[in-house]
Amino acid sequence: MTPHPAARVRPAEKADLAAIRLLIETAFGTRFDPAELEHIWALFPVDRALVAEADGRVVGHTHSGPMTITVPGAELPAIGISGVAVAAPQRRRGVLRALCLEQHRQIAAEGVPLAALTASEGGIYGRFGYGPSARENRIRLDRRFARFLPTAPDPGGVRQVSVPEAEPELRRIYEAWRRVTPGAQQRPDAAWALRFADPVRMRGGGGDLFAFLHPGGYALYRHHGDQSIEIKEMRTLTAEAHAALWRALCGRDLSHDLVAGLPADDPLPYLLTDPRQVRTVGSYDTLWLRIMDVPAALTARRYDADLETVVAVDDPFLDAGGTFALRISGGVAECAPTTAEPELSMGLDVLGAIYLGAHPARAFAAAGRLLGAPGALRALERAFAWPRDAVLGWGF
Ligand SMILES: CC(C)(COP(=O)(O)OP(=O)(O)OC[C@H]1O[C@@H](n2cnc3c(N)ncnc32)[C@H](O)[C@@H]1OP(=O)(O)O)[C@@H](O)C(=O)NCCC(=O)NCCS
Repeated sequence: MTPHPAARVRPAEKADLAAIRLLIETAFGTRFDPAELEHIWALFPVDRALVAEADGRVVGHTHSGPMTITVPGAELPAIGISGVAVAAPQRRRGVLRALCLEQHRQIAAEGVPLAALTASEGGIYGRFGYGPSARENRIRLDRRFARFLPTAPDPGGVRQVSVPEAEPELRRIYEAWRRVTPGAQQRPDAAWALRFADPVRMRGGGGDLFAFLHPGGYALYRHHGDQSIEIKEMRTLTAEAHAALWRALCGRDLSHDLVAGLPADDPLPYLLTDPRQVRTVGSYDTLWLRIMDVPAALTARRYDADLETVVAVDDPFLDAGGTFALRISGGVAECAPTTAEPELSMGLDVLGAIYLGAHPARAFAAAGRLLGAPGALRALERAFAWPRDAVLGWGF
């Protein structure tokens, strides 16, 4: 790679906003609504943004904002990164790397244990120590053939309400849901405002948002043409609310397909006489995490099984790696640097991928990316598993 000869990374200023907007719009082939930009800058303040400048023009950008992310049994401060773009004529010459380096030095100086992002492409961020920490299955269910088992809960209680009318309940339910769901973030007002603004460019050609509300959950959905309904966001606190909402969605005559993104442990297939009707048509990563401080992150989360080991973590990008003694007892971990010989070794990206329990250690071991004796690998996998799948709370 020929390094860009003149790109200089510097803090963004208000005067850069028009150039940043053009850069992002061009990179993603989209146009922001003016109202949407106001919310984005509230989430990712301009004084945290960085630009790369070459020949007097903004050719690269990244911004970030503080978040609180739920991890198994706890909540942790994190920095969420978004708006990453480099102008096409300046790509593959180290501009992103230079921006990332400066941005992560700043995040390390802030002392937060996690950095988070969602990735446009899966091949970019592993080299910077990020692992895919939450996954989602894209499912399609033809509601005309969905039959609920006689044993499936049928509590009723779903109301059809307008989205503005539903807002206080959506906020209450989301807040209760995100506190127990690894991967989910606290949702600031600006993030709710973005959901309710529902920019046309984010609708994928679909119509307005509609809401189904239950005391223990909600579904926000939109129509795509005559026959397809996309469930944009569904959050449930109880099995009853989950079944009631799916029954209501399946009761929508005049449509065929229901499309949704669900975690792998979603019980929908097991409510139906024919689980195969819930067809998985895609599977993709949602949240990516980089662990900025290994002892802080590992001692913050809770665990389901005891473990005593020494783990080597390699951080090829910054200096978060090292060798750590990890002792987990009664669900609580102690973790500190050690000079002892490691039993397990992995990249920081792999630690990020297993951190929320979304990926089994054995998969990375089989790929040659997590090294250790079979007994140590099994013990690691048991300790890091969590009884609830990780879910990204809101996209950023
Ligand atoms: C992705 C993007 C930001 C990369 O910027 P860039 O300046 O070309 O990246 P760099 O030259 O600094 O590359 C840094 C490293 O990432 C790699 N890389 C860059 N883009 C990549 C891609 N799309 N897929 C896989 N690897 C990629 C480079 O090969 C390089 O690897 P190395 O340093 O380990 O040798 C740029 O292509 C872009 O703006 N794309 C469109 C918008 C986008 O997808 N943004 C990311 C949103 S999450």
